[in-house]
Amino acid sequence: MATNNDAPSAAEVAQAGVSEAQIAVHWREEEYYPPPPAFVAQANANDPAILERFSEDRFPDCFTEYAEMLTWDRKWDQVLDTSDPPFWKWWVGGRLNACVNCVDRHLQERGDENALIWVPEPEDAETRYITYAELHRRINEFAALLRDFVGAKTGDRITFHLPMVPDLPVSMLACARLGVIHSQVFGGFSGTACGHRIADSKSKILVTIDSYYRNGQLLDHKKHADEAIAAAQAEGVEVEKVLVWRRIPGEYHSDSPMVEGRDFFIDELLDGYRGQTVEPVSMPAEAPLFLMYTSGTTGRPKGAQHSTGGYLSYVTGTSKYYQDIHPTDTYWCFADIGWITGHSYIVYGPLSLGTTSVMYEGVPTYPDAGRPWRIAEKLGVNIFHTAPTTIRMLRKLGPDEPAKYDYHFKHMTTVGEPIEPDVWRWYYEVVGKGQAAIVDTWWQTENGGFLGSTLPGLQPMKPGSCGPAVLGVFPVIYDENAQEIPKGSGKAGNMCIRNPWPGIFQTVWGQPERFVETYYAKYCKNTDSKDWRDWPYFSGDGAVQAADGYFRILGRVDDVINVAGHRLGTKELESAAITVDEVAEAAAVPVIDELRGKIVEMYVSLKPGNEASAAVEQKVADAIDREIGKIARPKNVWIVSDMPKTRSGKIMRRVIAGISNFSDVGDVTTLANPEIVDEIRHYVQHEKLERGETPRELSEQEKQEIAAYGHAD
Ligand code: PRX
Repeated sequence: MATNNDAPSAAEVAQAGVSEAQIAVHWREEEYYPPPPAFVAQANANDPAILERFSEDRFPDCFTEYAEMLTWDRKWDQVLDTSDPPFWKWWVGGRLNACVNCVDRHLQERGDENALIWVPEPEDAETRYITYAELHRRINEFAALLRDFVGAKTGDRITFHLPMVPDLPVSMLACARLGVIHSQVFGGFSGTACGHRIADSKSKILVTIDSYYRNGQLLDHKKHADEAIAAAQAEGVEVEKVLVWRRIPGEYHSDSPMVEGRDFFIDELLDGYRGQTVEPVSMPAEAPLFLMYTSGTTGRPKGAQHSTGGYLSYVTGTSKYYQDIHPTDTYWCFADIGWITGHSYIVYGPLSLGTTSVMYEGVPTYPDAGRPWRIAEKLGVNIFHTAPTTIRMLRKLGPDEPAKYDYHFKHMTTVGEPIEPDVWRWYYEVVGKGQAAIVDTWWQTENGGFLGSTLPGLQPMKPGSCGPAVLGVFPVIYDENAQEIPKGSGKAGNMCIRNPWPGIFQTVWGQPERFVETYYAKYCKNTDSKDWRDWPYFSGDGAVQAADGYFRILGRVDDVINVAGHRLGTKELESAAITVDEVAEAAAVPVIDELRGKIVEMYVSLKPGNEASAAVEQKVADAIDREIGKIARPKNVWIVSDMPKTRSGKIMRRVIAGISNFSDVGDVTTLANPEIVDEIRHYVQHEKLERGETPRELSEQEKQEIAAYGHAD
């Protein structure tokens, strides 16, 4: 297949006069890889007619193909209602239950097949096989408990703070059965972070677990519940009950005391609900199914509200065509259910299709970098789904491990961050043994499911590019002035989607104005219009489109740092740092990292009368652990005498980002205090070299990204 070499050089682009927003990008075009013929022969989507069925002139009716994959109590009257833009409504008038679609409807034909296979982290512990029939039983018993013991009702919110244990999908689907909105907070988040999310969603119930295994240790998790409840209380929300799963039923592995009348062991309570069944509640398609909190430009996390019918139809359709899931496959998505990827592509999509979905409790490299491949071999996994960070880590620690194991993937996915072509090739050749089709799926918490990806049986792969838009999704790249940036121009801009799709979130929970402002205000053509064409969705990602139509996603253009695929808001990090008494000002910057894509460094200046010390640095790092979680812990905390600032007093983050990355700091002549730049550079870079952090040459793309950081300031 032809390679595309017509992207202009960086110099040409620079000459053409590119504004800072239209960051010029230049890269070597990669070669195409055709999908393996054996994959194509069995693919769910291998007839090009599908592209026709989803062409723009068939929008929005094309998506009925996805809706028809579900079982409805009542069919919809209207495919898409645009009467209240941009609050789109899909499948209006339709009614269904998500739990029925993921479990009950498979019982007759697949009741004895495995729905979930759970692999505990300790390698000598027994793998658990949970059939659809058993999953159904467990969901019903827990739903009965939620209804009768807790009094949970349709529309209530329940927060979960759970790790990768089967109790998590059981809890989610029990809520779905009752029409209760679940809000799962990533298990690695701190108790305080969980508490803010409880308060925002006004949950009266917290579901947690005593402990879980991570990196060889049984971690105390219940202790976070106490912090969470205190944090929620400080915001005026009282949690009435804490339901505690036990990692090992009957044993309690936490130092946190159970609070009489508030905390209850679920395994004990369940004894009163054995064998009970709960009638599923028939929900309007538009009813919210769950909230998933994510970071944005301000300190307060946003609860992305996902619908029942639109969301479920979208994840089912994309799981079928893009993940190529057949009921007979053994599918393993190596993400955490605490993130949207796990909701859509471990739980709802795969179970809706009646397949076997594998869950793993622990870290990928425990006890060594061969672990994933042993799991794949033992369970006969044939579809594998993970993030570039995991791939980089597995490559670094065990480059030759995959070849030692007898597994065969027909399909592999990468998600969550841009993947370097070099890493992609290792994934393809070594992990996939050259036999698997790879999809690089670009999307976001807000989107419900994939937005950019190749259709694996029909479109060739190109390392480093997610591919064209998915079926029924029509993107556009805009510059800052809402001018379209044409494909093949070599210019980057803001990645937007011109049309609604069924998986798009419905709103930011409790903040509809923020929903409109963040995602639609920027490029709305006419705020009075009820035509979806006037309301492009602004993704917050920078992208460039090659002449062949493939998109290359460059990363966030807003104040979000993507660390190992986890979205961290700059403002959240900074607000955590200034909870330390001594700290006057804080700024978070991304540093390019070989394994995790990016990591965080914090710059702080102190209030008068305080001295810089290792103790203050430690306090800042601890504050971030406490307020957000260990994933956000900064690599370094730099205490500086002042921050580089504009005359209006704004911190110029791109300047310190440049220093931390040993990259260009850009124009500093407009600063109010330009002399500070050399002082900070000297201190930080000297200190980094002392600590053995040798700089590596950044690629052109990485340099551009750092130079554009904090552009919104
Ligand atoms: O910057 C994009 C990056 O991850 C962001 C979304 O993060 P989150 O909402 O946590 O969802 C992650 C899983 C869907 C995006 O704005 N991102 C996601 N997938 C890719 C990506 N960047 C490049 N390539 C991808 N495939």
